[in-house]
Amino acid sequence: MRHQVCIIGGGPSGLLLSLLLRRAGIDSVVLERRSREHVLSRIRAGVLEQGLCDMLRAAGVGARMDREGFVHDGTIIAAHGTTVHIDFKKLTGKSVMIYGQTEVTHDLYDELDRIGAPVLHGTEDVTIHGADTDAPYVTFTHDGRSQRVDCDQIAGCDGFHGVSRRSIPASVRREFEHVYPFGWLGILAHTPPVAPELVYSGHERGFALCSMRNANLSRHYLQVPLTDRPEDWSDASFWAELRRRLPPHLAETLVEGPSIEKSIAPLRSFISEPMSWGRIHLAGDAAHIVPPTGAKGLNLAASDVHYLSRALIAHFAGNGQPLRDYSVTALARVWKASRFSWSMTRMLHEFPAEGEFLARMQAAELDYLAHSTAAQTALAENYVGLPY
Ligand code: FAD
Ligand code: DHB
Repeated sequence: MRHQVCIIGGGPSGLLLSLLLRRAGIDSVVLERRSREHVLSRIRAGVLEQGLCDMLRAAGVGARMDREGFVHDGTIIAAHGTTVHIDFKKLTGKSVMIYGQTEVTHDLYDELDRIGAPVLHGTEDVTIHGADTDAPYVTFTHDGRSQRVDCDQIAGCDGFHGVSRRSIPASVRREFEHVYPFGWLGILAHTPPVAPELVYSGHERGFALCSMRNANLSRHYLQVPLTDRPEDWSDASFWAELRRRLPPHLAETLVEGPSIEKSIAPLRSFISEPMSWGRIHLAGDAAHIVPPTGAKGLNLAASDVHYLSRALIAHFAGNGQPLRDYSVTALARVWKASRFSWSMTRMLHEFPAEGEFLARMQAAELDYLAHSTAAQTALAENYVGLPY
């Protein structure tokens, strides 16, 4: 088969790219290793920047988000006895949207189905050939048969463990990595949120985050050692620990209930440069990972897709410059979002090996944040998302 663009990976990056290209009359195929049910069962991000919301609306898949999502004009940051309300709307004029990644993915699949854009599930052994030639192609196995896609460009949207990044020669790639000495244990529960806005809470027992999906669906996280497994945590022990790590006035309002999902994710910062090589262009987790503290993973995938879709549209219209610039353009925003995610992680987590000095620095930072409009504005402007 032949398509103008072969997109590897049917997560949010690959699906959104496929839709944006299709709207511009460019045809693509999405190759996804897992089943649709599997992709839709992964509970991941929940906070969408305005830039991503605007892209979804422009692509014609924003209606359910606007009906069912929740606009948040601020967030609460509490640590070292200080509680700060960050008023995004007042400080930046912008807000964020609470709407799960699972729902975004659902809406994208529905629209791609409706317009007949091909998404192949269960593709195995996806292999990229001739990415540095004028005739690249991708081979894979689907329904037990060997298949081949000839294409003009390849979009690597296959996440951190995908094949696309590894198809760029190691001699060309430069990788930057920082692994944090802890993970996040997350639960989803049919309980009301602890507060109308998200609560990021630093505590000497470790970080906690109270998030939500709707008025009766909460998503909470605890910083845990990397050696912990989800089955080590009963629901009762999770709720008790979360309560200990929240400021007292919020701990009082916490409503407990059985968890419907429980998982642990390790935290890392990772960036691979360049994001393009020959005809391969990486987007989203295939090129970079951020620790989740700033809610940036999905949003960064979206800004890559913004730049890449525009560059591909220009390329097929006869202007190759934006595609040649894609890596540099995308990386400038990637590094800034990575810096923000790293600094939020650093400000709010326990780093036991680093001793009392870091703890005092964190307390000073919180105190500064509480009393400086400039510091609050800087945090708000990064949280709602830097401009594309
Ligand atoms: P992915 O969503 O990873 O999609 C990549 C797709 O490619 C997958 O569907 C995969 O099956 C497919 N694929 C992989 N290899 C191949 C192959 N060889 N061939 C074909 N297909 C392949 N971000 C936040 O902001 N907040 C959070 O709370 C949060 N929690 C997270 C929890 C976990 C466990 C993980 C892994 C990530 C989390 N993130 C979170 C990050 C956010 O979910 C990601 O940044 C986002 O999913 C990136 O989208 P993507 O499409 O680039 O990659
Ligand atoms: C969620 C996850 C995050 O990492 C974050 O910073 C905020 C919210 C969530 O899953 O709701």
